[in-house]
Amino acid sequence: MSQTEGNRQFLAEAIAGLQSARPSIPCKYLYDAHGSALFEAICRSQDYYVTRADLALHERHLPEISDRIGPQAHIIEFGSGSGIKTRRLLESLDKPRAYTPIEISAAALEASVKDLRRDLSHVEIQPLQADYTEDIPDHHFHLDPPPRRRVVYFPGSTIGNFDQNEAIAFLRRMGNIIGNTGAILIGVDLLKPEPILLRAYDDREGITAQFNLNLLRRMERELGVEVDINAFRHEARFNRELSRIEMHLVATRATRIGIGAHQSDFAAGDSIHTESSYKYTVAGFREIAARAGLESLQVWTDPDELFSMHWLEKSGNGES
Ligand code: AVI
Repeated sequence: MSQTEGNRQFLAEAIAGLQSARPSIPCKYLYDAHGSALFEAICRSQDYYVTRADLALHERHLPEISDRIGPQAHIIEFGSGSGIKTRRLLESLDKPRAYTPIEISAAALEASVKDLRRDLSHVEIQPLQADYTEDIPDHHFHLDPPPRRRVVYFPGSTIGNFDQNEAIAFLRRMGNIIGNTGAILIGVDLLKPEPILLRAYDDREGITAQFNLNLLRRMERELGVEVDINAFRHEARFNRELSRIEMHLVATRATRIGIGAHQSDFAAGDSIHTESSYKYTVAGFREIAARAGLESLQVWTDPDELFSMHWLEKSGNGES
């Protein structure tokens, strides 16, 4: 997608989002270059337990996971895979057939592929620049000779950023990619006491606040939006009914956001919803997977029950 096309879509979604009865902006717009760097900093912060718990769980169960995957597998990662987890997984596999990271940002894709090619010369790396939230034609995944199986790898709990119906549709699309012989290895953050969740999404270093507020800066810079950024503050809320953390930008006084001819007025306390992060129980995620035609055949969790990893296959492949 060209820059202009991307901006046009951002503009249209920003206008529609701000004018709706409950103002919101899609969370994908949090990730410009600065937003992505802030997200990396969140992942390193003390209060955001998610990355550490995910990494520890991977490390602990790597041998079992590699056994599950088996030899000659084609690993398809949804995301750029620059992280330590991907590297450790690929290193631990028996004769991996190939690795395909899927990533919308050409720069992020290039950076991850460069390092992996240098360090894992025995793995065939076939990057794919694409929006993984959209349908991807299957020919992009064809290999000659074919792999023994495809494994879609989706660590980090990004599935939590989808609303339930979106998550089900997304899992279905993953199911189409793996076919009847493949599997999905997916990270899912677990429901836990509210104070831990609120701390993680409103860290004491203020990085998450910067990450959230950067969305307004981005709108100002890229879309020419007129906004008084100082009139907004970051807030993390736990929505118990929907079992999700929500990030909001809350107006601290009456203020107006102008996008060309469109104006949106905010009274003090009004908010813009910028992200949801659903927190699942193991049973709750099994149910979501089942509605997508997938069966959770193994679940790994840590002793503190912070994070989980599910091994999903098409329903009916079960090992009962
Ligand atoms: C990318 N995603 C899994 C993060 C999460 O925890 O939902 C995004 C994030 N937002 C604030 N902190 C982290």
